[in-house]
Amino acid sequence: MNIILKDIKDFHRIDVYESNGGYSAFKKALKEMSPEDVTNEVKNSNLRGRGGACFPTGLKWTFMPKTGDKPKYLCCNGDESEPGSFKDREIFERNPHQFIEGTLLACYAMGIKAAYVYIRGEYYKWINLLQAAIDDAYKKGYIGKNILGTGFSTDIYIHRGAGAYICGEESALMNSVEGKRGYPRVKPPFPAAFGLWGCPTTINNIETLANVPEIIRNGAEWFSKIGAPKHPGTLLFGVSGHVNKPGVYELPTGTPLMSIINDTCGGMLDGKDIKMVIPGGSSMPPLTKEECLKANMDNESLKEFGSSIGTAGVMVMNEDTDILKVLIRISKFYYHESCGQCTPCREGTGWLLRVLKRIDSGQGRISDLDLLTSVAQNIEGNTICALGDAAAWPVKWTVKKFRQEFEKRIPKEDVEVPVRNKVHSLR
Ligand SMILES: Cc1cc2nc3c(=O)[nH]c(=O)nc-3n(C[C@H](O)[C@H](O)[C@H](O)COP(=O)(O)O)c2cc1C
Ligand code: SF4
Repeated sequence: MNIILKDIKDFHRIDVYESNGGYSAFKKALKEMSPEDVTNEVKNSNLRGRGGACFPTGLKWTFMPKTGDKPKYLCCNGDESEPGSFKDREIFERNPHQFIEGTLLACYAMGIKAAYVYIRGEYYKWINLLQAAIDDAYKKGYIGKNILGTGFSTDIYIHRGAGAYICGEESALMNSVEGKRGYPRVKPPFPAAFGLWGCPTTINNIETLANVPEIIRNGAEWFSKIGAPKHPGTLLFGVSGHVNKPGVYELPTGTPLMSIINDTCGGMLDGKDIKMVIPGGSSMPPLTKEECLKANMDNESLKEFGSSIGTAGVMVMNEDTDILKVLIRISKFYYHESCGQCTPCREGTGWLLRVLKRIDSGQGRISDLDLLTSVAQNIEGNTICALGDAAAWPVKWTVKKFRQEFEKRIPKEDVEVPVRNKVHSLR
């Protein structure tokens, strides 16, 4: 069951999209539905955000004020910088018009006259593809002034990122669009009250918006019955690592992880055993082999294992994987990407990396494992934005779930290192 990645030749072309029902949901909304009807349909569908936090989309749309003189904005989040995530670009390539139609429906529902699509700068090819699709939609009269003679007007602009992971965080993204440094903002005020240029703003992920036309076309009830009841629909699983056929696959939420690995991705590479799977991008707590055997891939099910679906970027690692090296790589990323505004994140990410490297160099001590957990817990929940949590969770949970992997890297004698040397070895 594919809602977004349809197996139709040249589906990225506007004429092919139209001849397969494309833009019919937008036309239907403009003719037959009030903006509130569109929001209610999305709300009743129980669509949850695909950008990582699984926030209910329809509910988010209701936060936008219905009165007031200020312009309102939509930011479409295609920054996609989380390691292990590469699904939004598939939409830009294979079905850009469904995303554009979803954006138009969101604008109509919330009374928005300008949408900014924020795309990571490295996605040069996909930026060009999306721009071509937007140009075609303008030519056909779906975007612009007095759309299809209804009096409703809205514009869609692309904004290229410049290579900072933090600009995917919604408030940093808005600062970046404004031309400022991509620093996350303290909340409240929330974007619906004070967003882009101080005006009411909604931020949605690309995949989230791409689901909306099919919800309007087929109805909320149809959508809510697909996949896992509390997290319905499909997900674009971006599977990477030690599988035979890595790639982006659209599957219903709640699909068993082992079915994704074995049936969809052709099994483990070289027939090796699983050691660890990160289910939703590098910031999500990992799953052990035993957990993988039981895990269903939706947000509610993964909570049982202390994890979340995140961006559904599934990173599969086999029995030969050096878990410590993986964690060092992940921690290096978050240390590098911390914007430095808050002390727990700025300093803590560096401490996590240095302690992990000390263990890797053979100078670790058993107490380092508790130290890692303690530093992670002091970051978690104590920062302006969730990058702090994203840095803390993988360390806290990997040490907890794979403790033996770390213990075997610590010298048996666990010698007390003199303080002077200890400080030196952490720099
Ligand atoms: C450090 C950080 C990076 C993020 N990067 C992205 C991203 O690249 N794309 C995205 O859609 N959401 C990203 N998010 C989540 C956004 O802040 C926001 O929750 C999301 O775009 C909302 O869309 P949704 O409700 O449709 O999921 C990031 C969050 C954090 C804390
Ligand atoms: S948590 Fe990290 S990335 Fe987020 S605002 Fe604080 S320092 Fe910046």
